[in-house]
Amino acid sequence: MNQAKTAAAPLLSVRGLRVDVGDKRVLRSVDLDVGPGELVVLMGANGSGKSTLALALAGHPRYEVAGLAKLGAEDLLAMPVEARARAGLFLSFQAPPDIPGVKNNLFIRSALNAQRASRGEPETDAFDFLGQAKAGAKRLGLPEAMLARPVNEGFSGGERKRNELLQLALFKPRVALLDEIDSGLDVDGVRALVELVGGMRREGTAFVVVSHYLHLIEMLEPDRVLRLHEGCIAETGGIELARSIAAQGFAAAKTGQSAAARA
Ligand SMILES: Nc1ncnc2c1ncn2[C@@H]1O[C@H](COP(=O)(O)OP(=O)(O)O)[C@@H](O)[C@H]1O
Ligand SMILES: [Mg+2]
Repeated sequence: MNQAKTAAAPLLSVRGLRVDVGDKRVLRSVDLDVGPGELVVLMGANGSGKSTLALALAGHPRYEVAGLAKLGAEDLLAMPVEARARAGLFLSFQAPPDIPGVKNNLFIRSALNAQRASRGEPETDAFDFLGQAKAGAKRLGLPEAMLARPVNEGFSGGERKRNELLQLALFKPRVALLDEIDSGLDVDGVRALVELVGGMRREGTAFVVVSHYLHLIEMLEPDRVLRLHEGCIAETGGIELARSIAAQGFAAAKTGQSAAARA
C-alpha cells in the first residue's frame, strides 16, 4: 500500500515452504513476505493449513518442514522453538492450552525475561512487571485475578484470547502470528485487539492474522489478503479479496483466478 513500507526488507520471509504432518502433505509451497508494520490476512477453508503454517513457523515439533523461512536475516527453520521466540516471533494459538500449576504472571514474566536476556537487557523488576501486567490486563479487559491463576485454567474462550493478547502486548515481538484470535472475543475484546495491533504496527511489528471474519478484517486495514488453497497461496489481493470470499465463499473461488476476474 505504502511505498516506503513495501520497500523495507521483510521481517518475515517465507519461500517454498513445505510442511508434512505424518503421511499428509499439508503445505506444498508457500511464499510469504511481511514487512515492518505490515499486516497480512491469511484466509482459507477449514483444513487448508492456516494453523499448520503458523505452528510450523513457530517450531512445533509435530511438523516436518522444508523450504526457507527467515526472521529478518536469521534462518528461522534452523532455530529451536525457544530461539525463535527469543528472536522475536510470537504465535497466539487458535486454542490456547491450559498449563496447570504454572501461575500466569510468572509464566509471562519468565518468557519476557528470557527474551530480554537474549537481547542483553536486564530482567524486569518483579514489581514493575506486575504494574505493566495489571495495566495491560485492564486495557484488554482481562480481570486482574487471572494473573494469579494457573495459565488459562478455567478461563473462558474469550479470556484465553485476551490472555494471548496480553502476552502480545508485553512481549512486543517483531513478527506476530495471530491464529483466529477473534474467535471467542466479544465486541469490546475485538476493539481492544484492533487498537493493540494498530499501535504495534506503528512501532514496526509485522503481523500475519488468520481470520474468517470480514468485520474484523476490515477493521484491521490489512496491506494484503492471501488465500491458502491446496497447500499454496492461491490468491493475493487487498481487502476486496476478503470481501469477495465473504460474499461468495471458498467453494466459488478458483485457483489462480483473481478476485476481480471472479466478481
Ligand atoms: N496431527 C495431525 N495429524 C494428521 N493430520 C493433521 C494433524 N494436524 C493437522 N492435520 C491436518 O492438516 C490439515 C490442515 O489443518 P490446519 O492447519 O489445522 O487447518 P486450518 O487451520 O486451515 O483449518 C487438516 O486436513 C488437518 O486434518
Ligand atoms: Mg486453524
